[in-house]
Amino acid sequence: MADPRQSRGRRPGGRPPRARKSADPSRRAALEVLTAVRVDDAYTNLVLPSVLRTHGLTGRDAAFTTELVSGTLRRRATYDAVIAACLDRPLAKVQAKVLDALRLGAHQLLSMRVPSHAAISSTVDLVRDAVGQGAAGFANAVLRRVCEEDLAGWVRRVAPDPVRDPHGFSAVAHSHPRWVVDALGEALARSPRTEVATTTADELQALLAADNEAPAVCLVARPGRVDRAELPGTPTLFSPYGVVLDGGDPGEVPAVAQGRAGVQDEGSQLVALALARVGLEPGPEVAEERWLDLCAGPGGKSALLAALAATRDGSAPGARLLSVERQPHRARLVRRALDGADGSLGVVTADGTQPAWPAGSFDRVQVDVPCTGLGALRRRPESRWRRSPEDLEALVPLQRALLDRAVDAVRPGGVVLYSTCSPVLAETADVVSSVLAERDDVRLGDLSLVLPEVTDAAGPLPGTMQLWPHRHRTDAMFMALLERTS
Ligand SMILES: C[S@@+](CC[C@H](N)C(=O)[O-])C[C@H]1O[C@@H](n2cnc3c(N)ncnc32)[C@H](O)[C@@H]1O
Repeated sequence: MADPRQSRGRRPGGRPPRARKSADPSRRAALEVLTAVRVDDAYTNLVLPSVLRTHGLTGRDAAFTTELVSGTLRRRATYDAVIAACLDRPLAKVQAKVLDALRLGAHQLLSMRVPSHAAISSTVDLVRDAVGQGAAGFANAVLRRVCEEDLAGWVRRVAPDPVRDPHGFSAVAHSHPRWVVDALGEALARSPRTEVATTTADELQALLAADNEAPAVCLVARPGRVDRAELPGTPTLFSPYGVVLDGGDPGEVPAVAQGRAGVQDEGSQLVALALARVGLEPGPEVAEERWLDLCAGPGGKSALLAALAATRDGSAPGARLLSVERQPHRARLVRRALDGADGSLGVVTADGTQPAWPAGSFDRVQVDVPCTGLGALRRRPESRWRRSPEDLEALVPLQRALLDRAVDAVRPGGVVLYSTCSPVLAETADVVSSVLAERDDVRLGDLSLVLPEVTDAAGPLPGTMQLWPHRHRTDAMFMALLERTS
């Protein structure tokens, strides 16, 4: 009897079937990352490097896979609306793995310069490998419909009417959750441009579009440890310590590998710079100021603050920084970031709402609170889909408590710099206003005097500062300076 495995698939006449094409490694890697993000709540930036390694992807192939993953995750809402319009069943009935592959295919067809036949056939191969022949036929039919229109044409067809429902339109056209569009619109309305005539509606479009662009990698030269002229790249617009990397792996820059420089968004550099730069009311005669970073993990701002503390010129007393972080694993990252730095008093693993130091012990306090991160959507492709308005219910009371303890920690005449990488008003103006309303020993300082080079950055409360990706090419960092009066 013939071996059934050998005879299976034989055509009459005995010719063997054509060998089936397998999906290419870049697309297989991309699907693997999308699955990890969906199933394990993985973070792209953490899981992607190891998947690239496993598939042996480097250089252009690695860059292609990174764009496939990040673009697909960012533009998910747009692609889902398009795919839904190409189906004869609800989107929710499509098997999750097939939907991930269809989103990858839609990204190649609508936003990358991949020829249609290559985008379709490679996605069909992927679905056949991952699920089976029936699903591959289904993917083929759907993607053939997707490629009938370009992205702008699809947006016109599937997004709500932009006049009657502008935020609903933006949510689909720019692929953001509707509540995020609403929250960003409210924040922009409280941060009007002073240098350029524009409307909040136009600005919102520009902001949402900027959120969908992969940001260039920004490096910080930690003062006293390396000069920024020694780093590859173009000097940043505002921070005197930053460069925008021209390309390549930042880990291969020797100064970064040695901890003398780091990867840090320019907005975060400006936060540390503002705290270090502000002039203080005279306090008790001290040879050395004490600085506190109350929410230090993973340590980017602590590393810059410690470097700034260690390199003060003779016109100001020297300074040293204590870094506090509640999560032990993040406290370890802070220690690593501070390794070899002068200017650090040490790293303490502790809850910043339960201070282990006497009130009024510090001259300057940085409180960079845990937040929704909706100001850093460019860098975290999946994060917009992970957040919900309910997150604010837990975060806002913690932000208030941390700011209140930060004010307790600073001496009369000292300052607190409150910052978030979110522009959402509940986390910015509302937190600061509520702490100011409950205390009579603190007032708002004016950050436009501390960072005069940063224009068009008026925040929602007088003297506060709000940075924006579309205006400043930074994360949307919010900063408020609180001066302790008594
Ligand atoms: C936005 S991150 C800070 C980023 C940091 N400043 C930097 O530049 O690398 C907020 C940090 O606060 C920490 N955190 C949250 N609750 C805290 C608490 N009660 N006390 C101290 N740290 C806390 C989080 O674990 C997280 O590492």
